[in-house]
Amino acid sequence: MRDRHQVLCAKIEEANHQYYVLDKPEIPDAEYDRMMIELTAIEACHPELKTTTSPSVRVGGQPLAVFKPVSHRIPMLSLDNVFSAEDLRAWELRTCKSWLPGSICCEPKIDGLAVSLIYVRGMLVQAATRGDGATGEDVTENVRTIKAIPLTLRGEGWPRLLEVRGEVFMPKAGFEAMNAKARVAGEKVFVNPRNAAAGSLRQLDSRITASRPLSFYAYGIGEGGEMMANFHSERLAQLKAWGLPVNPEVMLKVEAEGCLGFYNDILSRRAELPYEIDGVVYKVDAIHLQQELGFVSRAPRWAIAHKFPAQEEMTLLEGVDFQVGRTGAITPVAKLKPVFVGGVTVSSSTLHNADEIARLDLMIGDTVIVRRAADVIPQVVSVVKDLRPAAGVPVAFPDQCPVCASTIERAEGEAVARCTGGLLCEAQRKEAIKHFASRKAMNVDGLGDKLVEQLVDRSMIRTPADLFNLRAGEVAELDRMGKQSALKVMAAIARSRNTTLPRFLFALGIREVGEATAINLANHFLSLDAIRGASVEQLLEVTDVGATVATHIYSFMRQPHSNEVIDALLAAGIQWPAIERKETAEQPFSGKVFVLTGTLSTMTRQAAEEALRMLGAKVAVSVSSRTHVVVAGSNAGSKLKDAERLEIEVWDEEKLIQEIGVHA
Ligand code: IVH
Repeated sequence: MRDRHQVLCAKIEEANHQYYVLDKPEIPDAEYDRMMIELTAIEACHPELKTTTSPSVRVGGQPLAVFKPVSHRIPMLSLDNVFSAEDLRAWELRTCKSWLPGSICCEPKIDGLAVSLIYVRGMLVQAATRGDGATGEDVTENVRTIKAIPLTLRGEGWPRLLEVRGEVFMPKAGFEAMNAKARVAGEKVFVNPRNAAAGSLRQLDSRITASRPLSFYAYGIGEGGEMMANFHSERLAQLKAWGLPVNPEVMLKVEAEGCLGFYNDILSRRAELPYEIDGVVYKVDAIHLQQELGFVSRAPRWAIAHKFPAQEEMTLLEGVDFQVGRTGAITPVAKLKPVFVGGVTVSSSTLHNADEIARLDLMIGDTVIVRRAADVIPQVVSVVKDLRPAAGVPVAFPDQCPVCASTIERAEGEAVARCTGGLLCEAQRKEAIKHFASRKAMNVDGLGDKLVEQLVDRSMIRTPADLFNLRAGEVAELDRMGKQSALKVMAAIARSRNTTLPRFLFALGIREVGEATAINLANHFLSLDAIRGASVEQLLEVTDVGATVATHIYSFMRQPHSNEVIDALLAAGIQWPAIERKETAEQPFSGKVFVLTGTLSTMTRQAAEEALRMLGAKVAVSVSSRTHVVVAGSNAGSKLKDAERLEIEVWDEEKLIQEIGVHA
């Protein structure tokens, strides 16, 4: 039993080492779980085998009442920062150049929390947080649950007492997954991976820590270093050999220029790295130079952090605007006191919808944390509740459209609230005209957003059709226009008369009709008249058109207002070349409408659809009286019932394969 226990301990820790240190997982998760179960079972019968270095401590133990204080024999320092190449060159002059040219060890600066790990004779005996640098908290039980941290060191030659220092952090993927779970369960979500790591490590109940996806990278040595190599980079390599994870990005460089190369490389890959970083750290590699350089107050002279532009900043929420989109969707937009974050000045940020405002528990006058990661639109991530003014005003979601005063409605189960004013709403009209003129729609060159807004504000146009009645003289009078630019816009409007049916359909701005659907509609019906007259059932036969889209198209085509606009546009001379009916007469399934349902075992649904289309069939998403064949795989549900009810021919997979085979 004792032997089996030892074998399991070794195998489990080997698996952890392969995964966290070597980054090469070798055994499947299921096998790992199985070994853990067996180990726990053995220890249940033989409690004497359950030591502090058994992998069973990874699941956590009895909760503590308090964390004991731990004083650090060698203080845990912090780092000074530089924010620019210039500052870095100044640091270089102050440090390396005045002593000796030499290598600089460059490391990512992970956004987690610093811990000290004490190994005595290769066994992890204590783990502590940094605290104030002099005294931290004893988090040994919690740290033992972090699988990246070895409970016993590998190899040999360790100092009798070795203090490893490094960063506990939560990888981005684990953070996202944990927050997603918390959201579903209605629990508290963490604002960023650093808070999540700190919150997870500082749990009195180590079983909670065990359930959190924490990881670790070693970046230095406290006590015991004098027994080790004379270069920091060699010490890191030694730690790795002893089984501690060391960041694979760590690299030696020379001079500020070399460091800047490292900085730029890491910055360019920041988004792809699996963990959050807030900069890089440069360390003089030679330990004797570190010792000569020494410390100033709480930071070493031999190391410096080169920070990336902050991705999060605090600022004031000055107000909330409610914008009305083309389909009436009301979007709350935070008006912020301008703040420099992630390399740009941010003064507004979308709040998405009413649920988001409720989630943030937002009040006007609040101090908020704004985040702007590279290439991502700025977001308000949280409210700093401690700074909330006594006179904070709750954000009230309006029940009337701020532009046209029509009622705002929110359909059940939808996150979006909408103005019900339709094209009576000036905001929706403006957006509809902007969309009509946009590049992928009618492509009216030079008719930008600002111009459309002026035209609507001055009642020069009400609908897209009015564009074709504008006169150059009146357009020339507008702000930032002149005779030349007016003539250009007029020419572009005139040119846009010659278009294609798909572009025209897309330009109408029917809800959920994007470019692809517009093309499918045109190819299916061939003429605008056919689309205007189509029933919901007929619309459902169009490739990729489902019940929602079909209903949107159907009701759009029956609204008096839409019909007036379409008629006026046609009267203004909008035209397109006729679409030729594709030569499909010889195809075996031409004119036949198929619906697929259930799971196919020999091919994907997509492959089956493609094969049918190749033979001339149309594939629709729902069953109607116009469906010819329903192909039912296993677990077919309501569509199969519909087919039976409507007495439509049903094929099973075998029949499908046979038919495709015969005709292919
Ligand atoms: S060295 C005396 N190296 O940054 C040197 N720190 O601002 C002390 N950090 O408390 C730290 N990655 O939590 C060092 N590669 C790295 C680091 C790193 C992250 C954190 C650490 C420290 C803080 C200092």
